[in-house]
Amino acid sequence: MGGKLQMLKTVILLMCCDSIWGGLAPSKHTWTYNIRSTRMSTSNESVAGGETHLNREGRGEYSMSGNLYFNVDVPEEFEVMASIYRSNDGGATYKLEPYSVPRTGVYTAINTFYKDIVMSSAAKCSNFPQFEGKLEHVAAQKFTYDRCILSNDGFPTYVSDGIYKFEVKTFGMVELFFEAIVVVEQKTF
Ligand SMILES: *[C@@H]1O[C@H](CO)[C@@H](O)[C@H](O)[C@H]1NC(C)=O
Repeated sequence: MGGKLQMLKTVILLMCCDSIWGGLAPSKHTWTYNIRSTRMSTSNESVAGGETHLNREGRGEYSMSGNLYFNVDVPEEFEVMASIYRSNDGGATYKLEPYSVPRTGVYTAINTFYKDIVMSSAAKCSNFPQFEGKLEHVAAQKFTYDRCILSNDGFPTYVSDGIYKFEVKTFGMVELFFEAIVVVEQKTF
């Protein structure tokens, strides 16, 4: 139960592309954050890959854009895992946080965490899949996302200051790697 909730929270922060940024909307959250960097890599460009970059939106605030392509249909055996690390020494060392999405089948992840939490938000800034019922096949294609902004709505209202590193890895036909570094700070009222 707690594990599932943590997974949901992780997925929201990792993938959610919502319209709310910082103090623009009412929020109970005591904290805010800014993305510092994103990067991604692939073990085999001819199978799948992509790129990610930040767009400056003003005063140290950024949105995310990029693409993710698959040159082959995504097989059922393809697996994904996400981890969150935290640094309290300016990014010199990181420790694994309890929040994570354990290694799981990609279609399970799509039909639970993605669908329930991310899909409607992703609709606003990307062509990531929109579907009813179950998605059982992702054909070879290119997804693009443009100026997506991560909402912290699904996260705890309190998160301690620090530099956080989010990593998503895949296992199977290709090893994709996505990383985002974000700085969490308490709001000043
Ligand atoms: C990349 O994938 C293709 C298609 O499966 C394969 O032919 C090629 O050997 C792979 N390259 C590397 C470097 O693994």
